[in-house]
Amino acid sequence: MNTTLTELGVTYGDVILEFSYLVGAIFFVVGLKLLSHPDTARRGNLWAAAGMVLAMITTMVFHKNEAGEGIAFLNIIIIIVTIGLGTVVGAYIARTVKMTAMPQLVSFFNATGGLASALVALIEFSNPANQSTLVTLLGLVIGSIAFSGSMIAYGKLDGKVGDIFAGYMKYINITLLLVVTAIIIFLLVGNTPFETRKLIVYGLFAIALIYGVLFVMPIGGADMPVVISLLNSFTGIAAAMAGFIYNNEAMILGGILVGAAGTILTILMCKAMNRSLLNVIIGAFGGGGVAVDKEHGSIREISASDAGILLAYSQKVYVVPGYGLAAAQAQHVCHELEKQLEDKGVEVKYAIHPVAGRMPGHMNVLLAEADVSYDKLMEMDDANEDMTNTDVVVVIGANDVVNPAAEDDPSSPIYGMPIIKTLLAKNVIVMKRGMGKGYAGIENFLFFHEKTRMLFGNAKDSLQKLVNEIKSL
Ligand code: TAP
Repeated sequence: MNTTLTELGVTYGDVILEFSYLVGAIFFVVGLKLLSHPDTARRGNLWAAAGMVLAMITTMVFHKNEAGEGIAFLNIIIIIVTIGLGTVVGAYIARTVKMTAMPQLVSFFNATGGLASALVALIEFSNPANQSTLVTLLGLVIGSIAFSGSMIAYGKLDGKVGDIFAGYMKYINITLLLVVTAIIIFLLVGNTPFETRKLIVYGLFAIALIYGVLFVMPIGGADMPVVISLLNSFTGIAAAMAGFIYNNEAMILGGILVGAAGTILTILMCKAMNRSLLNVIIGAFGGGGVAVDKEHGSIREISASDAGILLAYSQKVYVVPGYGLAAAQAQHVCHELEKQLEDKGVEVKYAIHPVAGRMPGHMNVLLAEADVSYDKLMEMDDANEDMTNTDVVVVIGANDVVNPAAEDDPSSPIYGMPIIKTLLAKNVIVMKRGMGKGYAGIENFLFFHEKTRMLFGNAKDSLQKLVNEIKSL
């Protein structure tokens, strides 16, 4: 056996390294599978992280370059110190971040992944041993777009960056994409001196960064979810490209899993929002639009005690959670309301809109945290079919995802987006603090509809009052 390996020019270290990548890959796949359910998601994260730690350790110990040399001791020290610093800072941020700021944090982490891959490509372009020019350039462009685009998404989710929308922006974006393509072709077939090529690559890096900013900038209204999932997939694809540059199976597989999951999510989001992917890529939708100002009509309020009675004597109740539920951190008391109603014999379900909240799966994660049973969560289409048999829909901190303008106002920026059709139910109770607008910044005529009653207040306080009322009945 020993002789055979030597004859093949393979050492025990190489075998251990390859085997560890295979084990790491299995850990990633198991992790991804476990991530698909809230009960097992935490374990899924640990499995995937363990796979990555294994791959990192074995790479540091067993990796050899073409000359058969291992990683220099000083470089290992630098790597360990850098990983240590990153771990401390990352753990601190993740532990101290407010739950309501999670979407921003996810965008920020996504940006760092894109930047890391872009920098790998930038450095490796100048490495004479690197034979994969196309992959390197694609990794550079995609990683840079993921970085700058995610930073803009972070700013938007945090309310620091507004939408800038102008009709001509899509032409600028198309032009930038054509320039990027032309530069890549030139670098592949052109015969320029190495120093000039290096300069051109820095230019490509800059243009890709600018494109990332410009393509996310105009996306506004309710269209951010599609962009966020697209940026997720870009980061994964860029990481896979970096893996190809190093011919490192663990990086390739990790990147492909993230890229594929992000791409599937993007397709689902496009379907959920009724948008085309091409329009997202050239930044050609969102922002700017203002809904037609209809006659407002009047608002009817309901007291917590009347709302409690209406709910307690219903047969079927749907809860529509939205961003306000997360902002108020009212998920636990929402679950309490569900239990109180069920004790009174009321059937309670949740209607989950795919873009409710501020990150993919936000409502699922939030309700899982409060131990709401997963099979009570109904996807939008199923919930809509069930609406006509529903006595009361309780909208808790949701706005855009229940806005009928998406169905009946072609001038609205959210026109075409499927919504939870609350008005098919017999009664609608809307819980929010005031007449504040949703993320899309537009009026919602559901609040003025004759079926609707408004229960004003912070969602957590209003829910607590409802729970108390129902208990006392
Ligand atoms: P929104 O349309 O953003 O509406 C949330 C509502 O919650 C607001 O109108 C606000 O009204 C109310 N609210 C805020 N804090 C509250 C509190 N403490 N108590 C009670 N109510 C509170 O939420 P949505 O219906 O979930 O829609 C999500 C929107 O975000 C969509 O436009 C979506 O496209 C966008 N978006 C989603 C994502 C992802 S991936 N899900 C990412 C980016 C953007 P008051 O101020 O009157 O209380």
